[in-house]
Amino acid sequence: MVNLTETQSRKDDHIRICLDEKVQVNQITNGLEKYQFTHVCLPELDYQEIDINTTFLNRQLNTPLLISSMTGGTENAQLINQRLARIAQKYGLPMGIGSGRVIIEKPEIASTFQVRDNAPDIMLLANLGAVQLNYGYNWQECLKLVEILEADALILHFNPLQECIQPEGDTNFKDLLTKIEQVCDKLPIPVIAKEVGNGISVKMAEKLINAGIQAIDVAGMGGTSWAMVESERAKNPLQKELGKTFANWGIPTADCVRDIRQQYSEIPLIASGGIRNGLEVAKMLALGADVVGLAYPFLKTAMTSEEAIEELVKLIIAEIKTVLFCTGNKNINSLKTSQNLTINN
Ligand SMILES: Cc1cc2nc3c(=O)[nH]c(=O)nc-3n(C[C@H](O)[C@H](O)[C@H](O)COP(=O)(O)O)c2cc1C
Repeated sequence: MVNLTETQSRKDDHIRICLDEKVQVNQITNGLEKYQFTHVCLPELDYQEIDINTTFLNRQLNTPLLISSMTGGTENAQLINQRLARIAQKYGLPMGIGSGRVIIEKPEIASTFQVRDNAPDIMLLANLGAVQLNYGYNWQECLKLVEILEADALILHFNPLQECIQPEGDTNFKDLLTKIEQVCDKLPIPVIAKEVGNGISVKMAEKLINAGIQAIDVAGMGGTSWAMVESERAKNPLQKELGKTFANWGIPTADCVRDIRQQYSEIPLIASGGIRNGLEVAKMLALGADVVGLAYPFLKTAMTSEEAIEELVKLIIAEIKTVLFCTGNKNINSLKTSQNLTINN
């Protein structure tokens, strides 16, 4: 694939930097270490009967695990998407695709994002930066993107910090809410609001829900730091330093989930940002998430092989089931209502 556009080469930069550089948040955590499950020595359950099915946006899911939005646009990205999609299909995992702005700019590269051939049955989430609604994109482009990908929902991502540090950042976030309202109103599928690693507060959730957003992915702080990723791509010393200063900026994922769930008992809620194993997935479910997303761990394994992705999924499933067993819960619903998760003293 020759003549990459700026957006395409940015996607390859992101993959390379996430894999090769130190861009994981390193001073603050996802907030989960302060929570602990109470061990149950007599579960009175048969492990074989443990069920980790769940429901999200009226869809039945085999596993409450999401492959978070990452990439598309280049040959490398296509390989990653296809490997992830085949495992998503095999295990019934929902999957997000990377931001599809470049599909509208250059429709001939749509195939690098399209995964339906490999994953005909999964819940597939298209993705676009919300700020693009201020840069020539409107609900018609959103609909086109969803149709090209045959997606079941659209994620609008919010990334103000990343745009500040990105050399070519789009920083006009003015009057976006009414445009978001219009997208929610016109699209025949649910629209999900997502951050990219800095978190969504209750106050922001309230604005978005009132605008018609049907689900929230908090994408909180604790994992991949987009300030650090963009610092690595910086074209001048100021941008480089700016990214470093904000390396640990944001709301820890656990705090976002706990606070939004306390305020909104019904909103479909995805926990993501710094989740690295099935014990953490289970803690997020107990805090009120319906589905839990991982990006970096899936990227890392996808670069190795399909088998590596599958090993990761199997391990996470075993970890979730072990939590259910050792807390005496037969299914996810029971885990959510059991109040087994307590704050450390
Ligand atoms: C290589 C890469 C590309 C990403 N691209 C997107 C994107 O296009 N749209 C989006 O909403 N999030 C994107 N993300 C952010 C992730 O979806 C996620 O919110 C963030 O990385 C935090 O999760 P993690 O700590 O598990 O990596 C990307 C992440 C990675 C690693």
